[in-house]
Amino acid sequence: MTNNERIPSHVAIILDGNGRWAKQKGKTRSEGHKAGFDKVKDIASYASKRGIKALSLYCFSTENWNRPNQEVAFLMSIPIKFKEESKIYKDNNIKVIVSGRKDRINKNTLDALNDLVDDTKESTGMILNICFDYGSLNDLMNTINNLVENGTKLDEEKAIYSHLSTNPVGPVDLLIRTGGEKRLSNFLLLEAAYAELYFIDKYWPDFNSEDLDKAILEYSKRDRRYGGIKDE
Ligand code: IPE
Ligand code: IPE
Ligand code: MG
Repeated sequence: MTNNERIPSHVAIILDGNGRWAKQKGKTRSEGHKAGFDKVKDIASYASKRGIKALSLYCFSTENWNRPNQEVAFLMSIPIKFKEESKIYKDNNIKVIVSGRKDRINKNTLDALNDLVDDTKESTGMILNICFDYGSLNDLMNTINNLVENGTKLDEEKAIYSHLSTNPVGPVDLLIRTGGEKRLSNFLLLEAAYAELYFIDKYWPDFNSEDLDKAILEYSKRDRRYGGIKDE
């Protein structure tokens, strides 16, 4: 940790590379996902200690249903493991919220997510936004449909944020993607309108607190101009 660092308020991470991590180690993809899941509590606890106010994690995308049934079934069981660890989140004063579709995940998975949210609802520290069956385009479509249905017209651009399912966390300051790919894969497209992007080749199960520190340090050196010009 260095002094004078600017800490991003909202950090979003695309947790990618579990499958390749597993392959490299001669393990199954499920073992890769399990290793990835085990990283979540460490990184979330560390992020909260570093003063990050909100951490959004892309855990299952609306496109991940395209994977083989067995892999989807394993990924659907992850929230149940999350729920078993709710004490860790509570002890770290982390409040869990969930973004994404609720209409096509199975009841056990949905119950586990709801319980996790309920167990941590009194926390006053960092918000951990679990993005599960989340896709930005689906979220935007729902938002537009709701606005149209209610006859609501927005009169300022940033009002869009309060209508998206991510409204408790809002715009992203720093967006990290592990695993080497350089794309957003339908994650927080509007919320990341002015995010600083940070790509790292490491696979998610290998990502650690020093890697988060490096991303924060890099972020604090970036000049966020928002279309303006650098202060002289
Ligand atoms: C990210 O790891 C986890 C999810 C998408 C759920 P991947 O499973 O995409 O890992 P790679 O990209 O195949 O290595
Ligand atoms: C993005 O990773 C989704 C999550 C990390 C949950 P993917 O591995 O699904 O993305 P693509 O297929 O490489 O774009
Ligand atoms: Mg991937």
